[in-house]
Amino acid sequence: MAVKVTWYGHACIGIEVGPHHLLVDPFLTGNPLAAASPDALRPDYILVSHGHGDHVGDALEIARRTGATVISNFEICNWFQAHGHTNVHPHHIGGGFSYPFGYLKLTIAHHGSALPDGSYGGNPCGFFIKTVEGPHIYLACDTGLFYDMKLIGEEGVDLAVLPIGDNFTMGPDDALRAVKLLTPRKVVPIHYDTFDIIRQDPYAWADRVRAETSAEPIVLKPGESLTL
Ligand code: NI
Ligand code: MN
Repeated sequence: MAVKVTWYGHACIGIEVGPHHLLVDPFLTGNPLAAASPDALRPDYILVSHGHGDHVGDALEIARRTGATVISNFEICNWFQAHGHTNVHPHHIGGGFSYPFGYLKLTIAHHGSALPDGSYGGNPCGFFIKTVEGPHIYLACDTGLFYDMKLIGEEGVDLAVLPIGDNFTMGPDDALRAVKLLTPRKVVPIHYDTFDIIRQDPYAWADRVRAETSAEPIVLKPGESLTL
């Protein structure tokens, strides 16, 4: 069975692994590029990379409605529990767990993580997932470039999802260097164009990836999917 990956705009990603639906950083309400209504999504798992509003987004409402398991760091999981959603699975950086959809590990991310209400959100993270269907997916989430991406690449990355927006995260130049460290088979750019301050040309970036690396860049429009 294939693994289907959908970009819902900004940093919101859907991943379908067989019958298991994962939703990452569901910022949809107030997201000018949102390609789905939060009410339309029925995830079994919600992954939250850090506490910022453009990532936590609608996660609490979707979790309450669906009963989905929230996967995040310990502090953010505590915040969901304090807000009445008890079905959480806390991790911390470097820690993995075998879920029905695959082995998921939290990776480092250089960023902030305060929650929208000012609560402490622990350390931000990315996610590395070895799906039960085979493909390995690395979601860098909000981060600057770090050389340890080379270690993640050593595990074999079929798809890397990288921010290219600059200002708050890696920009196009560092995201290109990230591709060289990760050596993924495919790479999808995200976290751009949502706001004026992170406007980028993803097609120009994809041309550079094609010219300088062996990765296949895939520019999705919000709402579009790819299959691994
Ligand atoms: Ni952020
Ligand atoms: Mn962000």
